[in-house]
Amino acid sequence: MKVLVIGGGGREHALVWKLAQSPGVKKVYCAPGNAGISGIAECIDIKADNIEALLDFVKYNWIDLTVVGPEIPLTAGVVDAFVKEGRRIFGPDKSGARLEGSKIFAKDFMLKYGIPTAEYKTFTSYRQAEEYVRLKGAPIVIKADGLAAGKGVIVAGTVDEARDALKMIMKDRAFGDAGNKVLVEQRLKGEEASFMILTDGKTVVPLAASQDHKRVFDGDSGPNTGGMGAYSPAPVVTESLRTEIMNTVITPVMKGLRRERINYRGVIYTGIMICDGKPYVLEFNVRFGDPEAQPVLSRLEGDFFELLKATAEGRLKDVTVSWKDDASVCVVLASKGYPGSYEKGKIITGLDSFKDDKNVVVFHAGTNLNNGETVTSGGRVLGVTATGKDIRTAKDNAYRAVEKIRFEGMHYRKDIADKAIKKQ
Ligand SMILES: Nc1ncnc2c1ncn2[C@@H]1O[C@H](COP(=O)(O)OP(=O)(O)O)[C@@H](O)[C@H]1O
Ligand SMILES: [Mg+2]
Repeated sequence: MKVLVIGGGGREHALVWKLAQSPGVKKVYCAPGNAGISGIAECIDIKADNIEALLDFVKYNWIDLTVVGPEIPLTAGVVDAFVKEGRRIFGPDKSGARLEGSKIFAKDFMLKYGIPTAEYKTFTSYRQAEEYVRLKGAPIVIKADGLAAGKGVIVAGTVDEARDALKMIMKDRAFGDAGNKVLVEQRLKGEEASFMILTDGKTVVPLAASQDHKRVFDGDSGPNTGGMGAYSPAPVVTESLRTEIMNTVITPVMKGLRRERINYRGVIYTGIMICDGKPYVLEFNVRFGDPEAQPVLSRLEGDFFELLKATAEGRLKDVTVSWKDDASVCVVLASKGYPGSYEKGKIITGLDSFKDDKNVVVFHAGTNLNNGETVTSGGRVLGVTATGKDIRTAKDNAYRAVEKIRFEGMHYRKDIADKAIKKQ
């Protein structure tokens, strides 16, 4: 079987890595891929949002399954285009992708189907939004409705900060049309966790829980990023909380999708805030989390290709999923300046140190090949991912590996997984 993975970040490297281990997979392509992916798959020079070129590629190369990594092609309708041409593809169609593509759609959906989430109000007028913020006071959360590459949410500590956020989104149009509407939301306090499921619209297969680290600096300080590290399992998601999430979130989501006649096939990622032991949904994503996919897929056992193919074909009930007892920790190495502006093209050394280390995989996120050398090409550069018998061991293995890697300006958090270790 031949597989195409769409995307070129750390999540896609993990998807390619896991798919390549399936016995039935003869060849993996990735569009556009990155330096790390090119070591295990053939990278194709097609952008992730060029749906027409991707479809042509799949037709001419007899691809059996396409797996979509990022959200942009999903909200743009890559699945609709592929299905129309009879091509097997993993991911939700445009109607399902609205759960991520419009935060307002997602909130209205949650309200309609009784899914616990923060109180909110929607605005198209700056004046009215500003008035509401003054009425409610801070802390308060401002969210651009559409996709904003993880930059569209501001948790404002003061009314002034909230006003600045509204100005940036609605007046300066920092995210273009994605900011035509905004959400003003009650601030929830608690611990966050990521809970992903696979579904073919009928059957639900929960994946192992994980926890991301959104802030750039240790101790959850500094600005938000795409994610500076993750680990799985997440001890904060206890057995009883898991049951609660399934009953109060996932079951009503599935019911809502059926009622709305959305035939959802793919991943549903729920960003959860745990407040006084109860789960509240912060957001939905319609694809694997990045960096959560790296530790979660490291722990997944069995045939990943069959699992994704069964999801795409609506046969998920035939498949069982199991997890390694080992824990997994992913530490993201970022470029100097990230999440602000950063330089590219820095030479990365030390990547060969782990060829024989079974516990360590270095997933590439923003890397390129330049005259045989691996160089940086993004804000998040690498996701050093290690397994171990428990989270502490996995963390030690990951940081020991990090020590061996160097590039100019490299920075990373030193406290990934500490929250989980404290709980043990
Ligand atoms: N209602 C809320 N209360 C407190 N923090 C929030 C709230 N909504 C979002 N956040 C914080 O902002 C981060 C980003 O928000 P999220 O809705 O996940 O948007 P995105 O991932 O698209 O940027 C969350 O991970 C969380 O830390
Ligand atoms: Mg999020």
